[in-house]
Amino acid sequence: MREILEELERRREAARQGGGQRRIDAQHAKGKLTARERIGVLLDEESFEEWDIFVEHRCADFDMADKAVPGDGVVTGHGTINGRTVFVFSQDFTVLGGSLSEAHAGKICKVMDHAMRVGAPVIGLNDSGGARIQEGIDSLAGYAEVFQRNVLASGVIPQISMIMGPCAGGAVYSPAITDFIFMVRDTSYMYVTGPEVVKTVTHETVTHEELGGATTHSSRSGVADGAFDNDVEALLSLRRFIDFLPASNVDDAPQREVMDPVDRAEASLDTLVPDNPNKPYDMHELITKVVDDGDFFELKPDFAGNILIGFGRMGGATVGIVANQPMVLAGCLDIQSSIKAARFVRFCDAFSIPIVTFVDVPGFLPGTSQEYGGIIRHGAKLLYAYAECTVPKVTVITRKAYGGAYDVMASKHLRGDVNLAWPSAEIAVMGPKGAVEIIFREDIGDQEKIAQRTEEYRQKFANPFVAGHRGFIDDVILPSETRARTCRSLSMLRNKQLENPWRKHGNIPL
Ligand code: HXC
Repeated sequence: MREILEELERRREAARQGGGQRRIDAQHAKGKLTARERIGVLLDEESFEEWDIFVEHRCADFDMADKAVPGDGVVTGHGTINGRTVFVFSQDFTVLGGSLSEAHAGKICKVMDHAMRVGAPVIGLNDSGGARIQEGIDSLAGYAEVFQRNVLASGVIPQISMIMGPCAGGAVYSPAITDFIFMVRDTSYMYVTGPEVVKTVTHETVTHEELGGATTHSSRSGVADGAFDNDVEALLSLRRFIDFLPASNVDDAPQREVMDPVDRAEASLDTLVPDNPNKPYDMHELITKVVDDGDFFELKPDFAGNILIGFGRMGGATVGIVANQPMVLAGCLDIQSSIKAARFVRFCDAFSIPIVTFVDVPGFLPGTSQEYGGIIRHGAKLLYAYAECTVPKVTVITRKAYGGAYDVMASKHLRGDVNLAWPSAEIAVMGPKGAVEIIFREDIGDQEKIAQRTEEYRQKFANPFVAGHRGFIDDVILPSETRARTCRSLSMLRNKQLENPWRKHGNIPL
């Protein structure tokens, strides 16, 4: 019997060695952890239950029969993060470059299927050379099995991808369907076709990093939701991130004990908005001053900075925050910011996370590049997302809320539940100067007259009270009371019931 037990341990140890010490050293030399080390940092100590450690590929072509490694290049199983169950797959680059075989895909599918059955998030740690070239179409079939599961799991359980090495070709499309993509700087890259193919086809010379590194995707393409400096920072941040999320669409996000008083007044907010309506201020300040303990997990911080999105807590419960940022493009909505916020709103709605919206928006960004780029279609995404969503929506207008952008930003007319405004709010069809130049076009040469008309318009419309008279906002509040009033509104909305009419699915403008 002892020999049998020893044989088990010997087999396990062989599997833990992955592609062998030389390749493990090479992985470390690149500044990367191994697949198992990553799981060790991500999960609570001793919580990992590994599955399929003995799975091997069945390919015999190209001498592959001699290259079978137990586990077949991916470590899978489940464990806990701060006591809550998550399913994990972690690709092992030391085994055939973490390439995806039929068996490797089967292991990923198994954890995804279980995650769906029990209602728990799936976290993928991606580090792979793509399709296992020796397996050909079996590998492609494996990818498609994963894609299909990604799609069916969308909106049911949170799916998170952490890109920690190569992720190329069709392999990018599994992360692309997941809810969030994070990347590690300098060691990870994602692209559909690599630099060599790009060179051949378009004659552009570009490095891996420039084409698909973490900086590119977190600041330029918007594919990634965040970038971290190294594996450990990335995995520890992921632990913090997952704490904001519910386990599935039938669970609530974890409720934290609140030390930060929900009625905390924040006097400094009374002077946040400058007297000059054209002067910017940092919307981050408002967000960090109203959420519990100033804890805001911002997503896509370096992409489309004219809108801010991320998670915080209010009264201990997770909220999704969407806010115009006057510091960038004066807070205008444009193509990128509309897409950024729309997908976030839909995530919150799918997982019953209330949305708090802070509005300071002068309108949609004008220009041919926006029109030719399809701002009509893309702006409609945000409108659609807000209008469709049924979770509690609390909106606070701090300053400008002009034109169509006023409607879009969780207005009362799109079923905003509680719509508040600061006394500095200007809720109007457009800014006073623009309005006067249209309705008094004949006076345009007369500066004095225009100035007088502009002031008249400002007095009449650039305030929150016209909307207040109509009930389009529920109250005008002191900026310092924002946390207290928002927390109270969210608490009142906790048992909100609202359903959309039955349909197979809507047809959001894509
Ligand atoms: C089989 C692979 C592999 C692959 C790497 N390896 N990629 N084995 N299939 N796709 C093996 C290597 O042979 C090597 O084995 C080990 O992994 C490490 O690879 P290196 O090249 O030494 O590592 P590095 O220099 O870091 O380069 C990493 C890499 C490169 C840039 C990822 O390996 C590479 O270009 N691989 C091929 C990428 C590719 O074309 N994949 C297919 C894309 S098409 P040894 O034994 O020497 O350690 C695709 C379609 C998906 O993915 C479609 C889904 C719909």
